[in-house]
Amino acid sequence: MAGRFAGKVAIVTGSSSGIGQSIAIRLGSEGASVVVDFLNHPENADQTKSQIEAAGGKAITLQADVTKPAEVQNLVEQAHAQLGGCDILVNNAGVEKHAPFWEATEADYDLVLNTNLKAAFFLSQRFVQKLMEAKKPGRIINISSVHEDMVFPNFASYCAAKGGMRMLMRDLAMELGPYNITVNNVAPGAINTPINKSLLADKPKLDALLRNIPLGRLGEPEDVASLVAFLASDEAAYVTGSTYFVDGGLIRNYKEQ
Ligand code: BGC
Repeated sequence: MAGRFAGKVAIVTGSSSGIGQSIAIRLGSEGASVVVDFLNHPENADQTKSQIEAAGGKAITLQADVTKPAEVQNLVEQAHAQLGGCDILVNNAGVEKHAPFWEATEADYDLVLNTNLKAAFFLSQRFVQKLMEAKKPGRIINISSVHEDMVFPNFASYCAAKGGMRMLMRDLAMELGPYNITVNNVAPGAINTPINKSLLADKPKLDALLRNIPLGRLGEPEDVASLVAFLASDEAAYVTGSTYFVDGGLIRNYKEQ
């Protein structure tokens, strides 16, 4: 298939819904063969796959609990075995848990840190090992959050994970630059996806948030996917080591009290 990503293979974790689904569809529609990773809902992953196929692309679906290094690394093995390699990695799978800091549980901490950060660490590691063996260039794009930089009261574990992702990206950009592997973060603000289900159902809370967003609306998954596609493309060959916010200006907000 023709397109910006013709001949390329991409893994997108958590691509059965939300931002990940939109990224997988975008990359697949522009020619990449895509590994659609999911945890619980094969039927949703199948939808991602069908939409890629409808656009003329190719995709496979794979189940993985990304908190387990062996399972997440298997995505790379399968990309090589079934699709002939892997050039683009999008570490998207994420979860957040709401609790005041003094009530947060160890189980929730482990889930949040392992899903958002440990998964990206070990998946990137296997992705990079394979690229080094093949002496090929590559692209790593982490979906972090405005909260890699901005406070988010009652979500301390999420902030710790996303802040960790910010420094992981910066470090890897240095270590992997000599191998022509670029590493960047895309940091969404409030996007219209299932992770924001309770917010979307709470009109006063939603309105208060919208007042903090200079562009005055939530983002759509496609707003994030187009930036990811740029970073994954040849046009971004000289871009590494930075975070790109796609947040309607949320992080720059200033209000007189
Ligand atoms: C979180 C959302 C939140 C948004 C803006 C995202 O990273 O997942 O729950 O609404 O940041 O605060």
